[in-house]
Amino acid sequence: MKKVFLCLSLALILAPTVTMAADGAGLFVQKCGSCHKRGGSASPVNPADKAGVVWEKYFARGRHPQGLAATVNDAELQTVVQYLQTHAADSDQPAAAVIPK
Ligand code: HEC
Repeated sequence: MKKVFLCLSLALILAPTVTMAADGAGLFVQKCGSCHKRGGSASPVNPADKAGVVWEKYFARGRHPQGLAATVNDAELQTVVQYLQTHAADSDQPAAAVIPK
């Protein structure tokens, strides 16, 4: 019984941290990945495809070739862009294979 309680407490303590960390990544895979996946309607895309400063300007300057209003709202897009910057080519933790090529 003690063990169960301990596990439950641990899960409660860890859950919010995990959710927060996964937020940008989760949105990226789910929303961007709906088109940008292997065999999808657009070629696979990853954070390490571009430098942080490029990601920062990419959507702000309307460089994306397709409207995204139906896929992400502004807040979600900001969260995704932050995630992309955190794992960009010139970041400390570049991520090149979140969406497999
Ligand atoms: C509704 C489908 C769709 C969604 C959703 C979508 N894209 Fe795209 N995206 C495209 C298409 C179509 C292209 C142009 C063709 C290609 O690159 O394969 C493109 C191109 C791109 C490019 C340029 C690729 C290159 O090689 O320069 C980037 C970067 C990109 N998208 C990032 C994203 C990100 C990040 C998201 C999520 C916020 C996203 N896209 C969501 C359809 C989509």
